[in-house]
Amino acid sequence: MVTRIKRVNSSKPMLRNSFPVLTRFSLGSRCSTSIVVWSLVGFLVMLHLYTLISHTDVQRQDTDIHKSHHPILRELEEVEEENILIPPPRKRSPRAVKRKPKRATNLIGEFLDENSHIRHVFFPTIKMAIDPMNEGGNDSFYYYPGRIWLDTEGNPIQAHGGGILYDERSKTYYWYGEYKNGPTYHAHKKGAARVDVIGVGCYSSKDLWTWKNEGIVLAAEEKNETHDLHKSNVLERPKVIYNDKTGKYVMWMHIDDANYTKASVGVAISDYPTGPFDYLYSKRPHGFDSRDMTIFKDDDGVAYLIYSSEDNSELHIGPLNQDYLDVTDVAKRILVGQHREAPALFKHEGTYYMITSGCTGWAPNEALAHAAESIMGPWETMGNPCIGGNKIFRLTTFFAQSTYVLPFPGLPGFFIFMADRWNPADLGDSRYVWLPLTVGGAADQPLEYSFGFPLWSRVSIYWHKRWKLPAQRSGF
Ligand SMILES: *[C@@H]1O[C@H](CO)[C@@H](O)[C@H](O)[C@H]1NC(C)=O
Ligand SMILES: *[C@@H]1O[C@H](CO)[C@@H](O)[C@H](O)[C@H]1NC(C)=O
Ligand SMILES: *[C@@H]1O[C@H](CO)[C@@H](O)[C@H](O)[C@H]1NC(C)=O
Repeated sequence: MVTRIKRVNSSKPMLRNSFPVLTRFSLGSRCSTSIVVWSLVGFLVMLHLYTLISHTDVQRQDTDIHKSHHPILRELEEVEEENILIPPPRKRSPRAVKRKPKRATNLIGEFLDENSHIRHVFFPTIKMAIDPMNEGGNDSFYYYPGRIWLDTEGNPIQAHGGGILYDERSKTYYWYGEYKNGPTYHAHKKGAARVDVIGVGCYSSKDLWTWKNEGIVLAAEEKNETHDLHKSNVLERPKVIYNDKTGKYVMWMHIDDANYTKASVGVAISDYPTGPFDYLYSKRPHGFDSRDMTIFKDDDGVAYLIYSSEDNSELHIGPLNQDYLDVTDVAKRILVGQHREAPALFKHEGTYYMITSGCTGWAPNEALAHAAESIMGPWETMGNPCIGGNKIFRLTTFFAQSTYVLPFPGLPGFFIFMADRWNPADLGDSRYVWLPLTVGGAADQPLEYSFGFPLWSRVSIYWHKRWKLPAQRSGF
C-alpha cells in the first residue's frame, strides 16, 4: 500500500522502452504502380487466410477457454460463484447520521465499513480459524481464503505483504512477511492507517499448510530514531532469495518514513534462512523513488528488482549484481503511465508473467496480468486474471492485493497466488487469500502490439471458498 506523494525529481534519466511501432510506409516514386497493387492483393489474400485459420483456432479454444488441460487441475479450475446479499439498511442513530452522510450500499462499501453486518463474510471470526494442528481429518490441507490462519503454536500467522522461499538445502518452505501484530493508528490527520514496525516474521513449512513460527528474523529498532528500521518508519513487502555463489540469504524490502517520502529499498543478509538478518543499508534504486517492490530470481541465477516508481505511475525493472546486494546501472521503465503496484512475478515455459494491483491505498482494486518474452520488457497487459466469485469479487481481486506467486513443484503451469486482504481498521488482523493460479488457454483480449495474435496464454486465478493443493506428484 502506498499513498500519493508529490513528485520526486529523478537525477539519472533511463532509456525509454522502445516498443515496436507500426511505421507508415512511404512508397517512393520509383515503385511502379503494378508492384504496389500486386503486393496489396497478395497481402489481402494472406490476411484473409490468416483470419480463417485464427477463427477456427478461436472456436476450438472457446470450448476450453481458461483450462490448462491438466486433469489434476480440473477441480481447481471449476468456476465457483458467490452470492452475497447486502443487508437491508439499518436504523441509524441521529448522531451517526450527522457524522456520516450515507451508509454503504454496495459490497465494497460493506467491506470497508467496520460496522457492516456482513463483516464476517470478509473477516471471519477467530472461531472459524484454520488450525492445522487441530483439524480433524476431513478439513486437513484445506485453504479457506480470508480466514484467520494459525501457526503450529495456535497463534495467527503474521506474514503480511510476504513471499515464500523454497530452500533446496533444507527442503523447506520459508514464508517471510510483515509482522504487524500491533495497534493500528494514524500518525496524523491525513496519514494512512499504520502499525509501527515490529519486523519481518518468518514461518517454515514442508507442506505449505502447517507453519512453524521461526520468530522475527529482522527486528525493528526501538531507540535509534535515525535508523531505517526505527519503529516509527515503514517496512513493507520483504522478499528473500538465496544466492548460490555467496551462500547467503538476501532480503529486499520497501523502506519508507511514515509519510512515504523516503521511497527506498532496504537490503539485509543472513547465513541462514531463519536469520537473524543483518540490515545493510537503504537507497533509491537507480536514483528513483521506489515504493511497492519485489525481487525475482531467474533460472540462470540472475535476480531482478521490480519497483513502482515516478509516484507509482510506472514500474522499473533491473538486474541485481552478482551478490544480490545492490542493483546495477541497467534498468528499464515498464507499464509506463499504468499506475500499478504490488508486483508479483513468475515464469512459465520461458515467458514472464506478472500480477499487479492498482494504487488505492488499503482499499482493494482490480488486478491485472502482464506478460513479456524478455524480463526487461516490453511488458504487455493482458487483463484481469480473476475468475469466479462474482463481479465485485473479480473487480477487487477477491478483496485482496497481490503479493507473491509461488510455483508449485511437479505441476508445470500451476501456481499459488498469494494476496493480502488488508483490514485498515486493524492491520494486524489482515487476512491471507491464497488461490490456485494456472497458465493456459487463450488470452481473452487481443494484445496491443501483436496484431491480435494470441501470443501468450491466459493467466487465471480461480476463486474458491475452500480448496487444497493437488496431492498427486506434489511430493508431499
Ligand atoms: C468427514 O466427512 C464425512 C462425510 O461427509 C462425515 O461423515 C464425517 O463425520 C467427517 N469427519 C470429520 C472428522 O469431520
Ligand atoms: C543510529 O542509526 C544510524 C543510521 O543507521 C547510525 O549511523 C548511528 O550510528 C546509529 N546510532 C547509534 C547510537 O547506534
Ligand atoms: C509527515 O507529515 C506530517 C503532516 O504534513 C508532518 O506533521 C510530519 O512531521 C511528517 N512526518 C515525517 C516523518 O516526515
